[in-house]
Amino acid sequence: MAYAASQPIAFPHKTHIQLGVSCIDCHSGADIRDAAGIPSVKKCMLCHDKLAREKPEVKKVIEYANKNIEIPWERVYGFSKTAHVKFRHAPHYRANIPCATCHGDLTKATVAERVVTHNMGTCLTCHRQRKAPEDCAACHY
Ligand code: HEC
Ligand code: HEC
Ligand code: HEC
Ligand code: HEC
Ligand code: HEC
Repeated sequence: MAYAASQPIAFPHKTHIQLGVSCIDCHSGADIRDAAGIPSVKKCMLCHDKLAREKPEVKKVIEYANKNIEIPWERVYGFSKTAHVKFRHAPHYRANIPCATCHGDLTKATVAERVVTHNMGTCLTCHRQRKAPEDCAACHY
């Protein structure tokens, strides 16, 4: 079921996680907002202004930054607009559900792949078990 996107840069999750960068350092909405967010190239440059600049894939990062263009990452998770789903990260973070439950183990991954399937059934199965809201308006707008 994995869905792999062809990304503009071979961004290695595992390398950065091994350096001690946490998920929410980069996805800084995941604990407090609805959307987790994908980091701006400006955040990459906090390190790559100085570090690993000789690596070919890092050179591409620097090129985007120099041109003041965001890296056009392709999304791998999400729902069609017509399903009118409102997913919210913050309540799940507060309920201590690990990122890996819904996104798989990224500590061994390069670019993210969709390794977990999300649909109404998978949402509701957990909501029932955890006594989280099951009314239509909780998840739909
Ligand atoms: C906390 C500092 C830090 C941040 C922030 C950071 N990087 Fe890195 N990155 C590194 C270091 C250090 C390396 C070299 C690691 C090594 O070789 O062991 C690296 C390596 C890389 C590589 C090369 C991997 C390879 O071996 O070819 C790419 C590509 C990369 N980073 C992209 C990014 C992107 C894109 C962002 C922003 C989303 C980012 N980095 C943010 C520190 C950082
Ligand atoms: C150094 C910054 C950085 C760190 C640390 C990081 N990520 Fe990412 N993440 C990215 C970037 C850049 C992308 C876009 C490229 C891709 O899809 O891999 C991304 C993509 C993702 C996606 C795919 C989103 C989508 O819909 O396309 C998920 C899920 C994700 N990260 C989860 C995590 C988790 C969980 C952790 C911690 C275990 C983590 N990330 C750590 C930078 C980071
Ligand atoms: C209960 C399941 C669940 C948990 C837990 C969860 N996510 Fe997500 N995540 C999703 C779903 C579903 C989407 C797609 C939402 C959408 O597009 O409306 C998503 C989307 C994302 C994206 C894409 C960008 C964005 O702004 O939404 C990133 C990055 C991401 N998650 C990172 C994380 C990180 C990091 C954690 C842990 C701190 C985490 N997620 C925890 C289910 C989850
Ligand atoms: C692994 C378990 C789990 C999964 C999977 C899960 N949720 Fe949740 N969800 C929870 C828990 C626990 C809460 C927190 C309930 C609380 O705060 O009392 C929650 C809260 C929410 C809330 C906030 C509700 C409110 O009104 O406060 C929304 C919206 C939501 N989930 C949507 C979704 C959607 C959409 C999916 C599927 C893409 C999903 N959830 C998947 C466990 C889960
Ligand atoms: C816990 C979250 C959650 C709750 C509660 C929930 N849904 Fe959903 N629903 C979803 C998600 C997520 C999808 C998108 C599934 C996908 O894209 O595969 C969806 C999809 C749908 C769709 C299909 C839309 C389309 O165009 O694909 C309908 C219809 C729907 N829901 C109706 C309802 C109704 C009616 C209720 C109340 C009885 C309800 N949902 C309650 C999460 C939820």
